[in-house]
Amino acid sequence: MLRDEQKLIEYFADAPDDISLSDVNLDNLPSHISVIMDGNGRWATRQGKERGEGHIAGISSLREIITACVRLGIDVLSAYAFSTENWKRPQHEVDLLMHLFATTLLKELPLFHQENVKLVFLGDIEALPEKTREVFEQGLAETAGNTGMVLALAVNYGARAELARAARTLAVRVARGDINIEDINENAVAASLYTAGLPDPELLIRTSGELRLSNYLLWQLAYSEFYVTDTLWPDFDRWELLRGIKAFQGRERRFGGVKA
Ligand code: IPE
Ligand code: IPE
Ligand code: MG
Repeated sequence: MLRDEQKLIEYFADAPDDISLSDVNLDNLPSHISVIMDGNGRWATRQGKERGEGHIAGISSLREIITACVRLGIDVLSAYAFSTENWKRPQHEVDLLMHLFATTLLKELPLFHQENVKLVFLGDIEALPEKTREVFEQGLAETAGNTGMVLALAVNYGARAELARAARTLAVRVARGDINIEDINENAVAASLYTAGLPDPELLIRTSGELRLSNYLLWQLAYSEFYVTDTLWPDFDRWELLRGIKAFQGRERRFGGVKA
């Protein structure tokens, strides 16, 4: 994707000692970066604060990473914000998250326009509380015409639910006679997922040190490179992002083959 070199250099000025823009190859950036934004609760607890304070602090990190990815010219940024399992959390925490999703999105819509960001959702947003769902639908409608980076927010997302849904979709199409059983191949499955039309993530970043996927993008991450950092999400910033990209660029991706 096109990027404004001047704005890019400005955004990554004041680099820390260990990493700077010149450490990454701007001609070999991942086109899709995905983040599991984890560690908000621990960030808050460590500071003697309520977990909710961590979620509020995490919003700034996401804003920074969205801007950083736009500056870098990344095509797709996806972020895991709420899993199908996160409903198990205390009701007040779920309520706060749903409230924050709605109010933050409404507040950030001008930024999305300014940066030409197109919003999409991964997950079952129909099942969200009404206010949140309404704001999400507004966000979808208002950014549908934007032609820059795609921001895919995974909310009420679970990979197993997504795959079961894809199986249902394909079964219905067979039953209706729209397709034959033989037509169910990898492309047909991929086209039935929430991520239909998006490239698979080349780089998956998980914060807070957890070495698991937590039901995230099981299909799409088949050949992604993983970067796990102990940094908690509210402390994650543009420099951490560069460290992740640098690590990615040092990997040898083989896709099951052998080195040429
Ligand atoms: C990630 O932070 C945000 C969501 C899952 C909504 P957590 O809330 O999982 O933070 P930890 O893992 O408890 O520290
Ligand atoms: C994964 O984090 C979900 C999100 C970041 C939204 P969790 O904190 O829910 O995952 P587990 O429970 O540690 O596996
Ligand atoms: Mg967590």
